[in-house]
Amino acid sequence: MTFKGPDGLNVLIATENKACGRQVQSMLRAMGIGELTEVFDLSHAILQLSHGGKIFSLVICDFLGQDGHLKLMKFVRNEQKLFPADTPVICIGALWTPDSIKAAHAGGVSAMLKLPVTDKDLGRVLSMLRQKAVVAPKPFPATETLPPQRGTTLDPAVINTRPKSEITGLEVIDEEHKLFFFHLSMLNKAIKEWQGGGEVENTLAVFRKFIAMHFSHEESLMESFPYSSRQVHKSSHDELNERLREDSAQAKGDAGKYARLASFLYEWMIDHISGFDQKMVAALRLHVLEAAKTDRLAAQTATVVHTAFTLAMKIPVLSLRLDMDWSNTNQRSLNAKIGDIFERMTNLMVLAESRIRSFGCNDHQLALLQEIQKAVAANAEVMVVSATKQLIHYGKSIVAGVHGLPLGIGTAINFQLSSVMELVSVAGGIDAISESSRAFVDRARDLVDSIVAMEKGSSVALADHGTIDAGMMKHV
Ligand SMILES: [Fe+2]
Ligand SMILES: [Fe+2]
Repeated sequence: MTFKGPDGLNVLIATENKACGRQVQSMLRAMGIGELTEVFDLSHAILQLSHGGKIFSLVICDFLGQDGHLKLMKFVRNEQKLFPADTPVICIGALWTPDSIKAAHAGGVSAMLKLPVTDKDLGRVLSMLRQKAVVAPKPFPATETLPPQRGTTLDPAVINTRPKSEITGLEVIDEEHKLFFFHLSMLNKAIKEWQGGGEVENTLAVFRKFIAMHFSHEESLMESFPYSSRQVHKSSHDELNERLREDSAQAKGDAGKYARLASFLYEWMIDHISGFDQKMVAALRLHVLEAAKTDRLAAQTATVVHTAFTLAMKIPVLSLRLDMDWSNTNQRSLNAKIGDIFERMTNLMVLAESRIRSFGCNDHQLALLQEIQKAVAANAEVMVVSATKQLIHYGKSIVAGVHGLPLGIGTAINFQLSSVMELVSVAGGIDAISESSRAFVDRARDLVDSIVAMEKGSSVALADHGTIDAGMMKHV
């Protein structure tokens, strides 16, 4: 149905909290909405909806006890045949927790407001419902939800709580969502410790960078398989980016506005994960399963490319964390992680290339490979440093005799050095990287030379004792 506005609007107000009901009534009357029916409990609300003889074009309720609003939603969305199932429902609550927000969204609530409701809040919600022509009809539980409204401020403790139920099942995306809530808690902290806004702006700038990266990862993932909701999902990302840009500009110097923005981001993400991201991952899984049924070879190639892609996506996330965290221990562990990911990704790419040469690949896999190359190019110098530090760490332990002198160490360590040098060329060559990065590369080269020399020395020593054929030394 289309939600037209005050003219002809017939509203059912179902609130257990009578003061809240009266307040809403007076606000609606002030807006010129005169057709109002008031009830105070769930059973009378259902009675009015089913046998009241009126067609309501808007329902406003509170929690109606503990979960009366969810029962009401079930009735409105699914069980009645008297009026459109997409009739907008606004729910008012004294305290919205992550779980109650999620349950209300899943139940198909069109918009949520927090007590005390102001006429500005209510006006905004009504105008949003008008603009959006309400949500699409939803079955119970609903899968798509409206974004939360401007103006609500959640308890900071709620924002600092990462919702545990928002899992898509795809590790790399879930990890990024965890980071989203981590960045949000940082923003929340900066707002709480308000010192004029500089710190908040810096935190928000990093947060926006992270969000842009996360969205681009999801969009690349959606490009990698035939997915009909790709555009609508991308539009949701675009809307948030736009809103974030607008609200960040408007909030400058105003702690209250920043707090509302943080609340909005929290609610938006919960809403978005359950409405869009979970669907995207489910569709990807289904696609992989279906593909595996019809073409096993292609499915194996797809798995290799997807795994390499998910690893490639982790690199910019870790690189951003490297920028943010200057503690030596964390820097070391982040560098180790990047080095490890780079190594696994390189191995997978070698495997992917050989499979593609033998069996070919489709356009979606090509798109993913291009994304991997982009991620590698954009983070090449970070990876040069991480991979080189790993190599230096390992090289030093070899020189110090921690592992003895493993058989074939020269070849292995030269292979690692050639991967580093490939990265250096991706970063634009040795002259294009910073002086400090160049120093790491030089140190790594020296160490590799020493290890190769040690190995040769040790082989010569063995040959001298007749342990190996001296002719074999030509090939070392
Ligand atoms: Fe998304
Ligand atoms: Fe997401």
